[in-house]
Amino acid sequence: MKKQFYLLAVLSLFCTALPAQKLNISTPNTSLVLEAPQGGELKFLYYGNKLSASDLNDLTNSGNASFSAYPVYGMNCPSETALSVKHGDGNMSLQMEVVKSETKNEDKAVITTVHLKDKVYPFYVDVCYKAYQDVDIIETWTEIKHEEKKPVVLNQFSSAYLPIRRGNVWLSSLYGSWANEGRLAQEPLEPGMKVIKNKDGVRNSHTAHAEVMFSLDGQPRENTGSTIGAALCYTGNYKLRIDTDDSEYHHFFAGINEDNSTYNLKKSEVFRTPELALTYSDEGLSGTSRNFHRWARLHKLAHGNVERKILLNSWEGVYFDINQAGMDQMMGDIASMGGELFVMDDGWFGDKYKRNSDNSSLGDWVVDTTKLPDGIEGLLRDAKKHNIKFGIWIEPEMSNTTSELYEKHPEWILKAPQRDPVLGRGGTQVVLDLGNPAVQDFIFKIVDDLMTKYPKIDYIKWDANMAIMNHGSNYLTADNQSHMYIEFHRGFEKVCQRIREKYPDLTIQACASGGGRANYGYLPYFDEFWVSDNTDALQRIYMQWGTSYFFPAIAMASHISAAPNHQTFRTIPLKYRIDVAMSGRLGMEIQPKNMTDEEKELCKKAIADYKMIRPIVQFGDIYRLVSPYDRLGVASLMYTSEAKDKAVFYWWRTEHFVNEHLPRVKMAGLKADAVYRVRELNRIDNEPLPFEDKSFSGSYLMTNGLEIPYNHKVDYHKQNDYSSRILYLEEVTISK
Ligand code: GLA
Repeated sequence: MKKQFYLLAVLSLFCTALPAQKLNISTPNTSLVLEAPQGGELKFLYYGNKLSASDLNDLTNSGNASFSAYPVYGMNCPSETALSVKHGDGNMSLQMEVVKSETKNEDKAVITTVHLKDKVYPFYVDVCYKAYQDVDIIETWTEIKHEEKKPVVLNQFSSAYLPIRRGNVWLSSLYGSWANEGRLAQEPLEPGMKVIKNKDGVRNSHTAHAEVMFSLDGQPRENTGSTIGAALCYTGNYKLRIDTDDSEYHHFFAGINEDNSTYNLKKSEVFRTPELALTYSDEGLSGTSRNFHRWARLHKLAHGNVERKILLNSWEGVYFDINQAGMDQMMGDIASMGGELFVMDDGWFGDKYKRNSDNSSLGDWVVDTTKLPDGIEGLLRDAKKHNIKFGIWIEPEMSNTTSELYEKHPEWILKAPQRDPVLGRGGTQVVLDLGNPAVQDFIFKIVDDLMTKYPKIDYIKWDANMAIMNHGSNYLTADNQSHMYIEFHRGFEKVCQRIREKYPDLTIQACASGGGRANYGYLPYFDEFWVSDNTDALQRIYMQWGTSYFFPAIAMASHISAAPNHQTFRTIPLKYRIDVAMSGRLGMEIQPKNMTDEEKELCKKAIADYKMIRPIVQFGDIYRLVSPYDRLGVASLMYTSEAKDKAVFYWWRTEHFVNEHLPRVKMAGLKADAVYRVRELNRIDNEPLPFEDKSFSGSYLMTNGLEIPYNHKVDYHKQNDYSSRILYLEEVTISK
């Protein structure tokens, strides 16, 4: 290792002797600085708060080990690398030199491209940076190509690399599983390699997430501290690596997971790696989240500037028991509570094979007329009668071996020749081969047919309930079978692009056995995602907390469901279920006809109040205050409007013991010298809170906070072991 370090030092001396061109890639508050000496190696110099002109001028890598901005394999073998290849002649080394760099302005962004070429081979890498000018995000990716005679094998092809200076650096990342997605893990970075990866093939955020945060100055804090955030924008398998070697730096790599995905790159073909979005904030984890959220709403998420409708989804209410009268009743009920949209979930389709359970019919996207004699027309008619919009569930990338589609096109499923397919959900589910253009056309047509026949459909819930269990594509040639995962996602994106081109206004939810598709690779095509199939309000606090690190509330579908809960069997009072659901994109997932009038009334009031706070929740800035993971007995967060003249504060008790001491929660994100009037929403107590309708300075609320009663003061028979509060804050002018 020492020898390697010496070599690096010599190399860097050599580089500084070249005419070094500094590249300053900057956003409103951050700078990423590279050194791009023509004929030398592209080097990373700095990432952090925006540099002044003089700091930028004097910034140098002298005294520090300097690192390549995109390390390649072959001339410094012991180090981890971003790119490794095998040339047609068997040579496994690369030595990339800067040819030139270019910048161009795009709407709201500056794109810097550094062109690299191998010293000997006609092998090229463009390292690209897109620096947004209205939000502190820099997206980086590479474009790899060659003009060699034979194909070049890509063994490793990360999107990006970032060195992170050691010094008590902590990693925050998300892990979980089905019905327990978005769990937060926080750990110090120790020597060795930390790998976060996905190999599902279809869904990529159940067990781990492709987004991380690095707290650079000790244990992660929500509202102070230097933090780097990174999000890989990719719909498929990914791998994030953090190598802590014997140098002064942690080495962070992110990209497509290369396992079983070696890529044969043809002459002149361009291999574009997915973007890694980077952000930096010195306002802690919440500050980093606010950067991601703003970028999501302004640039990434479909319709990030449009308020989401309050909906009822039929799944937990009726499961597969779909029928005309039942749908009409649910539409009537959600409309009477003030809802704006009804979504019919699974169970509406199939002709020869009817979809009465999860073991058949995917692919046969025709209405089951025994259940719905008036067809979708009848449902749209009823939606119009109730003055709400209508949405529908599909799972287009899949089939069942019991389906007309599979009988007609057995060659369309992913599986190896001479092998029986491993089957998924219901014992019969299979995944279609999206790399095949005929399959892409078929999937596009599912949406196109629905939307052409029924243009009034407002919303699609697009599900995906199986992993790629079988490696094998009938469409790809024998020597390109290792392209299967990558081609699946290229095909998926092509379909999404076609749909968005033709149906730009359609609302589409990404669902994948719950929260399997929470990733910025999906979000340009999707308006939101289903956070989890687990709708238990208590567990949702933990899942939504983690998910909010990277994704804004507007994208997080959060529904009020029944008690006892269908996944945890926990009985949580309606007030608490509402108070949790109202911190995301509010909806319902319940059979309203089983609710009492009093419960319906509470929901009706909550929906009316949500409409008032919707712009703050969906477009506002998040400040996480007390983490459920800190086990202090309470969790709390708030959203403030951009102008900071309005805010919504959430407080949920996470455990219930008598005479327990809970912390008083200090608010954040308000204007210190402004005065805010406080009002409780969803009140169930017989008496208003002591501070109801009173006004306090932002400074008092942020340095002291309000004393929230631990329990609800309700009639004896209504008492239970849960309590929660939502406070609405509005700036007022006090006459002196
Ligand atoms: C998945 C989804 C659920 C529901 C069912 C329908 O599990 O996550 O919300 O749509 O499929 O089969």
